[in-house]
Amino acid sequence: MIQIAPSILAADFTNLGAEARRVLAAGADILHIDVMDGVFVPNITIGMPVLAALVKAVPAVYDVHLMIANPLRYVAEFCDAGADYLTFHLESDSDVADTIAAIRKCGVKVGLSIKPATPVQALWPYLALLDLVLVMSVEPGFGGQKYNPEAADKIAQIRAEATRRGLADLKIEVDGGITQSTALPCIRAGADILVAGSAVFGAPDMHAAIAAIRNANQ
Ligand code: DX5
Ligand code: ZN
Repeated sequence: MIQIAPSILAADFTNLGAEARRVLAAGADILHIDVMDGVFVPNITIGMPVLAALVKAVPAVYDVHLMIANPLRYVAEFCDAGADYLTFHLESDSDVADTIAAIRKCGVKVGLSIKPATPVQALWPYLALLDLVLVMSVEPGFGGQKYNPEAADKIAQIRAEATRRGLADLKIEVDGGITQSTALPCIRAGADILVAGSAVFGAPDMHAAIAAIRNANQ
């Protein structure tokens, strides 16, 4: 089953609670929260207090994407704030195995993400420890960028490796420039969760936009 995770980065920040409710009512399965620190990426977005406020006000599955230099330092705080999935970058400064263990200890689902330039093989030592792999189809930092078609090949390679190892429950998520047309190769390659910011919040009919991405291969 394909799940759609709209990125609230593209929402109206003056009405975040209402925007979250609106996107869930329009069929979103998961809320994707982009956390940026101005160090790992050039942009700065939101942190734990905003996540905690949203979680309190709007019940949903929260998928938190940490684009921060030292994720290990903040694991407990994001778990306490209510993350359901906590995803960090393999390219961050934190020890990957220690960060996975810290998230697991909090009872939160663990995600590991790779930037466009990082080969999928870098994931292999950790694959069996993860609930989710997040393939970036743009350089992390900003919404509204163009989808990089190499993402679908990476998804296919990760799916093949997971299948080879019997990791049937591993979720593969793709993030960046996802629209109805770019969703198609990702779904065909084996993606389970599609993140979409601009294509959902910028659409005149949000319900139709979510359905179009979800059903891109039908
Ligand atoms: C990029 C973020 C994405 C992005 C998605 O650094 O991780 O989640 O905001 O936005 P669109 O769908 O507009 O590319
Ligand atoms: Zn993201």
